[in-house]
Amino acid sequence: MMKEYLDMLSKEAAAKWNKIPEMTAEEIKTAFAKSCSQIKSCLPEFTHKFQNAYSEGGFYKPIDNVDWTTGFWTGEIWLAYEYTGDEAFRDAAEIQIDDFYKRIQNKIAVDHHDMGFLYTPSCVAGYKLIGSETGKRAAILAADQLISRFQETGGFIQAWGRMGAPEDYRLIIDCLLNVPLLYWAAKETGKPHYAEIADRHVHTALANVIREDFSTWHTFFFDTRTGAPDHGATCQGYRDGSAWARGQAWGIYGTALAYRYTKRPGYIDIFRGVSRYYMEHLPEDLVPYWDLEFMSGNEQPRDSSSASIAACGMLEMANYLESAEADFYRKTAAKYMKSLYQNYAVKDPKESNGLVLHSTYSNHSPYNTCNHYGVDECNSWGDYFYMEALMRLHKDWEVYW
Ligand code: GLY
Repeated sequence: MMKEYLDMLSKEAAAKWNKIPEMTAEEIKTAFAKSCSQIKSCLPEFTHKFQNAYSEGGFYKPIDNVDWTTGFWTGEIWLAYEYTGDEAFRDAAEIQIDDFYKRIQNKIAVDHHDMGFLYTPSCVAGYKLIGSETGKRAAILAADQLISRFQETGGFIQAWGRMGAPEDYRLIIDCLLNVPLLYWAAKETGKPHYAEIADRHVHTALANVIREDFSTWHTFFFDTRTGAPDHGATCQGYRDGSAWARGQAWGIYGTALAYRYTKRPGYIDIFRGVSRYYMEHLPEDLVPYWDLEFMSGNEQPRDSSSASIAACGMLEMANYLESAEADFYRKTAAKYMKSLYQNYAVKDPKESNGLVLHSTYSNHSPYNTCNHYGVDECNSWGDYFYMEALMRLHKDWEVYW
């Protein structure tokens, strides 16, 4: 049965897939032990402060709760709590939830769409795990903030910038991970409005960011007057027509979550397509370069975070597929994790205070529009999704998303 799914890949991609074994239960245990110990030793420095989005020379610096990325650090702490039951993690995460509540009440650096990345792994997780009422209140305020960016003309949540400005009238593929906050808010408040906006955004996003060959656009612009789809463009990928490795992974996990909440069968086909494109564009060790344009044998930096995100998406979608296909995606995810564990995870706290090396945040190229930072470093979502994928391999996990 596995052969049927492998046969859909090119010979080269199938050979690479076959070469990497799956992560074993023993390795998952060791990876958790190392990660939880690393997180615990960070708590004194990073309880009243947060880890920066990316490490510098392998080490995160402390920042205030002002970036779009701080929820990942709190999410790591919750995952460590969930795995170990150690109250030190819970105490630290609760302190951080108070900070998230203050942030949304005072609208500190929340003028963008990343409310899901911020408030799901921190506050929704705290509510789901320990019934944190502060977490719940904060996350509902964050959902309100997120729907305030919905553009009726075009039917999408505007990612960044001044609302309605033509140069910012776009959605980005990453937002597929922000909308689960709205499905959660609809369920908790009994107000369907949140879910209706989420449905419309997901529909618009998937109708436009997926290309015919199932590679993906990072961002997509719409006409401000008519709402008609205008054009795709990259920000963090190598060039407009290429597939940014993390964007493709957001597409894999995003379609799995879209299916979780809508059960629209068409989303399974999109998931299969974007996953296959991903698998066809990986180097020998199955951890992508920062853009899928690059394959084996070149010196471009990797994006290890992309592999963890893709693993989480495959493990999520496996819950809804018939057993042979589910098994294929579970095995694929376990191979990505094996490779990350063996060759990318931090082995010695002296080399880094993060969990996974060789990730790329923002790599400037002659053809993209992003700044240059966090290249070949740890980053906070790379660490978070590595832990989440470990948790998903370890048990039938109740998702934070
Ligand atoms: N969501 C921004 C990024 O993936 O870098």
